[in-house]
Amino acid sequence: MIHEVARAKLNLALHVRHRRPDGYHALETLFAFVEDGDRLTVADAEADSFVITGPFAGTLQAEGDNLVTRARDRFRLAFGDDRPCAILLDKRLPVASGIGGGSADAAATLRALATRAGVRHDDPDLLACADALGSDVPACLLSRTAIGRGRGEDLVPVDGLTGIPALLVNPGVGVSTAAVFGSWDGVDRGPIGSGDLLEVACSGRNDLEPPARSLAPAIDAVLALLEHQPRTRLVRMSGSGATCFALFEDAPACAAAAEAIRSAEPDWWCLETALI
Ligand code: C5P
Repeated sequence: MIHEVARAKLNLALHVRHRRPDGYHALETLFAFVEDGDRLTVADAEADSFVITGPFAGTLQAEGDNLVTRARDRFRLAFGDDRPCAILLDKRLPVASGIGGGSADAAATLRALATRAGVRHDDPDLLACADALGSDVPACLLSRTAIGRGRGEDLVPVDGLTGIPALLVNPGVGVSTAAVFGSWDGVDRGPIGSGDLLEVACSGRNDLEPPARSLAPAIDAVLALLEHQPRTRLVRMSGSGATCFALFEDAPACAAAAEAIRSAEPDWWCLETALI
C-alpha cells in the first residue's frame, strides 16, 4: 500500500501578464505548499476501483471525469503499467477552491503509481503526464515552494518559507477557474519581484482577486475577517479563489485567529497549518 499526501497549494503571489493565443494566461506565481492535504492510497488489487471518503467526498464524483482516474489512465498509457489498483481518496480539502484540490490529487496519484512502478518522481515522462492533466499539476507533483511561469508549469524551486504558520479560510463557495480568468481585465501590472521570498510575496498581488471577488462576493468577507486578525504577515486570496489565507508571525497568533474565525463563522472551512 502506498500513501501520498496531496498537499494544499497556495499562490502567495499570482501575477497575470497576458492572455495567450491558446486561450491560457501567461503567469508569474509564487507557489507554496502547506503540511495538510487530501490523503491518497494506492494498493494492488484484482480490479480497478476508486473510492472517495472524507468531509468533502460528497461534492465529488468517483465515476466519470475525475482527475484521479485521468491521472491513473495517463500514467498507464505513458509507462505501460497495466496492473489494476485500488485507489482511495480521503477528500479533506474543499473542491474548486483555489488551493490545488483536484490538481494535488492528480499529482499524488502520479507519485503513488510512479513509486509502485519504480519510476522516479522527476522522470520527464511523469512531468509530461502532469502537464497534460492541468496547469497546476506540475507544481503539485513537485509539491514544494517554487516560482511558476508559463501556464504555471515552468517551475524553478526556491527555499526559505518553511514553517511559517498559515490559516486557510473558505466561505463554502466554489468558483470556476475558467470564469475567473475569463473576467480578468487584461491589464499587465508587472512581474513579481526577486530576492527574499516573503518580500516577493508581500510586495506582490493576486491579479485574480478582483474578478473572483466580483463573481463570488463572499470573498470580500473572508479577506476582511483575515485582515482584522492581529500579527498577520500577509493576507491574500489563493489561485482563482475562493479560499483565502493569512500568514502569521507565530503559531499562537495563527491559532488565535483560527479560533476567532471559527466562532464568528462556524460554517466556513478553516484550516490551521504551516508552509512546508
Ligand atoms: O489547466 P487547467 O485545466 O487547470 O485550467 C483550467 C482553466 O483555467 C483553463 O481552461 C483556462 O480557462 C484557465 N487558465 C488560464 N491560464 C492559466 C491556467 C488556467 O486561462 N495559466
